[in-house]
Amino acid sequence: MNSPKDISVIDIVKKYTNKKGALIPILQEIQENFSYISKETIEIISKNSIYAESDIFGVVTFYSQFKTEKPGDHNIKICQGTACHVNNADTVKDVIFEELKLKDYGTTSDKKFTVEHVACLGCCSLAPVMMIDGEVYGKLTPDNIRKILKLF
Ligand code: FES
Repeated sequence: MNSPKDISVIDIVKKYTNKKGALIPILQEIQENFSYISKETIEIISKNSIYAESDIFGVVTFYSQFKTEKPGDHNIKICQGTACHVNNADTVKDVIFEELKLKDYGTTSDKKFTVEHVACLGCCSLAPVMMIDGEVYGKLTPDNIRKILKLF
């Protein structure tokens, strides 16, 4: 995983000089390139733009699309939409948390997985569903969840 390199962050910020309403596009492009927006990155953005650190921090923490911590190598999205909820999405969550030794959504201590929840993954007929690195896994049971996780 990349770590932010000052020159690249600065390059991105400079691309938006004199453009109105540039903060969100700047943050989106930085996250796209570096996976997350650290405190140090916020300082660099502020030093090279018209935006105060506190304003940038406010935007980054307001929108859930922005990550402030380095994500794990693999991303797991657990669907908590209605169809999945009524088909034991909570059990899916419990098994994943147990297997990955997580107390809450977030990144495992070995930085291998980041676990998030989403409203609906758009494949409700396969409920309960999770997505790992963009691939959908449906009709989940505790046993097949454990087998799937061992693949990573
Ligand atoms: S509710 Fe889970 S995929 Fe739609």
